[in-house]
Amino acid sequence: MLKRARSRASRGVLAASDGRSKTQAVFLLGFMGAGKSSVGRCMAEQLGWPFEDLDERIERREQRKVHEIFRESGEIRFRAAEQAALRELLGEVRAGARKIVALGGGAFVQKENARLIEKAGIATVFLDASVNELWRRCRGQADRDEVERPLLGSLSNFRDLYKKRRPHYARAIFHQATEGKTVREIVVELAETIGMSSGSSSSRGSSSSKSLSSTSFSSTSRRTGAKREILKQREQGGNN
Ligand code: S3P
Repeated sequence: MLKRARSRASRGVLAASDGRSKTQAVFLLGFMGAGKSSVGRCMAEQLGWPFEDLDERIERREQRKVHEIFRESGEIRFRAAEQAALRELLGEVRAGARKIVALGGGAFVQKENARLIEKAGIATVFLDASVNELWRRCRGQADRDEVERPLLGSLSNFRDLYKKRRPHYARAIFHQATEGKTVREIVVELAETIGMSSGSSSSRGSSSSKSLSSTSFSSTSRRTGAKREILKQREQGGNN
């Protein structure tokens, strides 16, 4: 894990020669309910970068909602649309667009998608929480906000899927614990971990003080070796 994070960071994506981050894009990944969109929006507000939700790009391209694609055309068709949208987005990042991106819960699990993202040298962040907490958040959003998640299913299916997917998410360069923290706290920690500063106001967004869930229990933020690599590159003058 440490080795992997180092080799990715050493491609020079994360540290600039002036010691500041030159990351062009940050991709947030994790299971349903991880807080990818809430954290992404808040992080984008703080950094002054554009935010993008990959599911929204899919919906624009397909002219229908994610749950409609699932219902009318099935998951295989959705995954094809997801990959096409991702390729388009990566093309924009390669052309120089800065973006904070929230991926759908299954996007990084698809081998080819992960390969494309890793090849592009994107800073990936796994937003982590226990499966029980994720379930509570998703159930809450379904009941309260009528958020439709085609793969939500039963608690036992949700648990099985989470178990299968977690090793994929764990490939992300950065890991960020989210339980017991407000969106704003997560963003502050994350900006520090990645080595990006918000530069200006300490709190611009209204979403920033919201908690990701009504329940909270503490856990600590985990960093991979990428952070150490950034610091090492800075010490060495960061010429890669
Ligand atoms: C999916 C998660 C959803 C959406 C689609 C598939 C998944 O996004 O992309 O329903 O496979 O876990 P969220 O993670 O934002 O709910």
